[in-house]
Amino acid sequence: MTTITVKDEWKQRAKLDAETYQTWYDRSVSDPDGFWGEHGKRIDWIKPYSTVKNTSYAPGNIDIRWFEDGTLNVCANCIDRHLESRGDQVAILWEGDDPKESKAITFKELHEEVSRMANVLKERGVKKGDRVTLYMPMIPEAAYAMLASARIGAVHSVVFGGFSPDALAGRLEGASSSVLITADEGLRGGKTVPLKKNADKACEIAKKAGQEVTTVLVVKRTGGDVPWSEGRDVWWHEARESVSADCPPEEMKAEDPLFILYTSGSTGKPKGVVHTSGGYLVYASMTHEYVFDYHDGDIYWCTADVGWVTGHSYIVYGPLANGATTLMFEGVPNYPDAGRMWEVVDKHKVNIFYTAPTAIRALMGAGKEKVTRASRETLKILGTVGEPINPEAWNWYYKVVGDERCPIVDTWWQTETGGILITPLPGATDLKPGSATRPFFGVKPQLVDNEGNVQEGATEGNLCITDSWPGQMRTVYQDHERFEQTYFSTYKNKYFTGDGAKRDEDGYWWITGRVDDVINVSGHRMGTAEVESALVAHDKVSEAAVVGYPHDMKGQGIYCYVTLMEGEEGSDELRKELVSHVRNEIGPIASPDKIQFAPSLPKTRSGKIMRRILRKIAEDDFGSLGDTSTLADPGVVDDLIDNRQNKK
Ligand code: WT7
Repeated sequence: MTTITVKDEWKQRAKLDAETYQTWYDRSVSDPDGFWGEHGKRIDWIKPYSTVKNTSYAPGNIDIRWFEDGTLNVCANCIDRHLESRGDQVAILWEGDDPKESKAITFKELHEEVSRMANVLKERGVKKGDRVTLYMPMIPEAAYAMLASARIGAVHSVVFGGFSPDALAGRLEGASSSVLITADEGLRGGKTVPLKKNADKACEIAKKAGQEVTTVLVVKRTGGDVPWSEGRDVWWHEARESVSADCPPEEMKAEDPLFILYTSGSTGKPKGVVHTSGGYLVYASMTHEYVFDYHDGDIYWCTADVGWVTGHSYIVYGPLANGATTLMFEGVPNYPDAGRMWEVVDKHKVNIFYTAPTAIRALMGAGKEKVTRASRETLKILGTVGEPINPEAWNWYYKVVGDERCPIVDTWWQTETGGILITPLPGATDLKPGSATRPFFGVKPQLVDNEGNVQEGATEGNLCITDSWPGQMRTVYQDHERFEQTYFSTYKNKYFTGDGAKRDEDGYWWITGRVDDVINVSGHRMGTAEVESALVAHDKVSEAAVVGYPHDMKGQGIYCYVTLMEGEEGSDELRKELVSHVRNEIGPIASPDKIQFAPSLPKTRSGKIMRRILRKIAEDDFGSLGDTSTLADPGVVDDLIDNRQNKK
């Protein structure tokens, strides 16, 4: 196994070296109050905290509080406190879908836009604690809307712009949100996305379910024709003119919620992950500074979408809290061609670049020349997130993109964790391709077997975290019971991540992927249960089982076993119909890759679907099906094998 030892250049630039990492880490876990009490001061508090950590993972009493008696405003930390020292510095550097379009927003300008949007929200009746839903393209107004909510103490819920009207409606209902911020249309890869039309449909669906949306604030992005509902719909460019540019930030408690973000789990509907204000911001800003070795003046680019947690913590909150210039990209990696990312790097002199393995694999396929035609000389740090990175992609990223000059930080974390938990630190951590390496400060990972026995030494197991860190989610929105059930009931007194991992002889961590019924498609999380319920909602489908299988580009693909209603025939046409049905129900990211029509599914005598068998068949690995003796009808398996859709 290759190890890339920290290079001298990285050490010289880095804020932390290996020794300091170890000293800080040891203190962070032996004296969390002392450690975080000190580092909590990196943000501005209105009323300073006197207590630091107050957390319990005890069964029946999952209770997580950090800096509890402190007060602050997250938006003021991201904007106002920088005005004096860096008011004219660029805060958001926006690169449009069209390579000819870009703009720079300074902290002063950001302050004005956000204050105006906050006042528009107030004018429409939004108060502290109200939920504001966003359904936005990657334009600066998406960040304005998040920060404006934070400024007035409202709780934002960002819904990825690629989700369907149904999915958006479910999230509006879930958060009982009566205010929606969207745009006329999005623009990606030269194609428009009908956001306002989708939003209208979602509002209709939500209304039928009892959740009326009374304000839709619309940003004009493309100028395309959109339906309009007088009284409810408001153009942002008009509303901003009639409000004041001054909006004093609301004083919030550390544990007041900052945002809800819906994410898929192994069962049921997506959960509303709740993050609060103080601990979240301390953690997001601290990880942003040390993981990316961020220095004043660096141009930082994270290619995620604000619809995902990465966009929250590492496009908006972390970087802006640190006074960084954060680049926001509207487009896609392969438009106009697969060299776009590296052109943008040169154009804006990007120093820190953070993306997903799926993008790296796709660009890898387009050839070296697309990369080397850009100089990339400003790059200093490269990062990845979202799924395990295969060593081949890691090496390509390191050698071709970074010319072996830039350390790669493979950052492992989750929507639930708020920020990065396991990662190298440039200048401090020797790298091993494919390993997320070491825990960040305050993070105590542990491996357990399926019975919960702690595994020591170099071994493999289920990844748990044994104590709280400030960025941890606090609850599932309005369902604390589900919070405990999902994360703290499989193994008592610890947080279960849902991931499997290995720890090697050097104590390095290697994340192997989900061990629950969640699949990771191009770095996006998909609950197999969600795809199944979308499928059975089709009137020709009686039953469905969905599993993941290894996919060269996407990491995992979506494989669906579908049992049809009596009298229905499977056909390619029906396959297409089902694919488009699932896209309509959830969104294009849930598109099934393979559909196998199955007269019946393998079940135990008690009626439980044996997914282990379905996974093996989907992987074309049916030589090792394991024990099938508990099947109610073992004959089912032969038919499944004969008709498998993934023959190698
Ligand atoms: C799941 C969380 C956190 C932002 C993006 C995804 C997988 C994430 C890595 C990594 C291996 C990773 C895990 C995790 N994952 N980063 N560096 N190496 N796997 O957030 O949608 O909440 O998904 O993504 O399986 O549980 P998410």
